[in-house]
Amino acid sequence: MSIVTLTGAGISAESGLGTFRDSDALWARYQIEDVATPEAYARNPALVHEFYNLRRQGMRAAEPNAAHHALAELERRHRGEVLLVTQNVDDLHWRAGSRKMVSMHGQLQNARCAACSHAWTAPDLMFPEDRCEKCDAQACRPDVVWFGEDVRFLEEIVTAVRQADIFALIGTSGTVYPAAGLLELAEACGATTYEINLTPSGMRPSAQSILLGRATETVPKWVAKLLRS
Ligand code: OAD
Repeated sequence: MSIVTLTGAGISAESGLGTFRDSDALWARYQIEDVATPEAYARNPALVHEFYNLRRQGMRAAEPNAAHHALAELERRHRGEVLLVTQNVDDLHWRAGSRKMVSMHGQLQNARCAACSHAWTAPDLMFPEDRCEKCDAQACRPDVVWFGEDVRFLEEIVTAVRQADIFALIGTSGTVYPAAGLLELAEACGATTYEINLTPSGMRPSAQSILLGRATETVPKWVAKLLRS
């Protein structure tokens, strides 16, 4: 039995990291077009770095929670295929022990040179005047995917979702494509589908089972049930 999970900001909320679209969430305080697009970086790199510096500091101070640990346990104990697809740029799944995973929106712990694509572990703070350690260009950016850029690993993700027996959305509003299209693909390909969220996403078509509650409670229960079946 093959299992694909798609996680979003809600799974890290109880680790203290903000979501994007809940009340007082990041996109209520910042405009996407000011901090999360290539144009924003070209116009005002200092503001873009400030936004991601704050988020990197938050991530490094945070710890994985019971939901991250439960998905890592699912990977360790399930005898079939498992793929964890995350839209999150934090490293909490990795620190909880997940290894069969892809970060489709990139990774905040890394920096990348926009000129030569060299990537390295990001320092706590990045600034517009930083230089690439390889080519010396003054073009250092967080290694995350911005609006208008291609997501990572899409072919691998689509192949896994097509073959999945079970597909679960966890802690995501399902508003950003192409991630938001994966539930429909999973259903079309015959998977049993779940949505595990604090509040229903309202996605159409909806998942076959909707489990509502805090991820630290719902995800460990869902994983325990899967491992028993
Ligand atoms: P959103 O902020 O859009 O959605 C967060 C979801 O998590 C909502 O459905 C909440 O109900 C749910 N949630 C909040 N707290 C929760 C908790 N304790 N337990 C369980 N669920 C909880 O975040 P994403 O769907 O991840 O992209 O956003 C998708 C993308 O939009 C992000 O990757 C980012 C953003 O713009 C880029 O920056 C490219």
